[in-house]
Amino acid sequence: MKIRDALKKALSELKAANIGSYGNDAVILLKTALSKDEVFILTHQDYEMEQAEVEQFLELLEKRKERYPIAYITKSKEFFGFNFYVDERVLIPRPETEFLVEEALKIIDSASAKRVVDVGTGSGNIAITLSKLANIKVFASDISHDALALAKLNRDRLTADVEFILSNGIDWLGKKVDIIVSNPPYVSPSEYESLSEDVKFEPKGALIAGEDGTKFIQYLIKEARGRCNYLLIEFGYSQGEFIKKQANLEKVIKDFSGIDRVAVFKFS
Ligand SMILES: C[S@@+](CC[C@H](N)C(=O)[O-])C[C@H]1O[C@@H](n2cnc3c(N)ncnc32)[C@H](O)[C@@H]1O
Repeated sequence: MKIRDALKKALSELKAANIGSYGNDAVILLKTALSKDEVFILTHQDYEMEQAEVEQFLELLEKRKERYPIAYITKSKEFFGFNFYVDERVLIPRPETEFLVEEALKIIDSASAKRVVDVGTGSGNIAITLSKLANIKVFASDISHDALALAKLNRDRLTADVEFILSNGIDWLGKKVDIIVSNPPYVSPSEYESLSEDVKFEPKGALIAGEDGTKFIQYLIKEARGRCNYLLIEFGYSQGEFIKKQANLEKVIKDFSGIDRVAVFKFS
């Protein structure tokens, strides 16, 4: 099969499967199957693909048609300008979470806060970004052993100063710290059912929290008091009203869609 024919096949099948990003995705599938860059794909239309490359391409095409996330296919996701390795062990970092990182960086700078903890670190995206950009050591925890193994890989690839702790919640935290940040699971089981098929490939434990999705957020607000000066939490699009009823809320930050997205609590 020539690249030209593979591209044509991917474009028409992804479009027929209602994948909105079918143009980009078709090129990405070929780049991945051939381990080549976009320029090669676009300038070598008559390249005759090897059997193994064709097989790999067809396998990826089938996966994508079933809405397997493109980030799991490329095994990478950009976050705050850094390239993170991702696979099914972790949630794919979202652009909304950059608002939380931006706010944490401002507080680190203005309050010269140095002791920072990230709870539910997943791929390590928040902790690693903060460590690199603020030039500090960050402690990061997760309940998932698999997620931490992947986060360590990212830490080593990006040479960040992050120590990972396998733990349920923040019980492990002994001394008071300056800032606790978290993008916790915040989806309810019923909301989960309505999410797009792509999301269903991500770890359920990274998404669902209790009956109404606020279980982990409530836990953090309660447990962080006395353990930190600032608590920054990302929350769901429908949880703004709940968040605004909580004590010690200093401010709420909206995302680029104008939706309340990050809560900043100040305890001292
Ligand atoms: C929404 S994901 C966030 C991942 C990453 N920080 C990000 O922003 O993309 C939530 C993370 O919290 C972890 N988690 C879920 N329950 C937890 C618990 N009880 N204690 C610690 N971590 C937990 C999950 O394993 C998952 O990695």
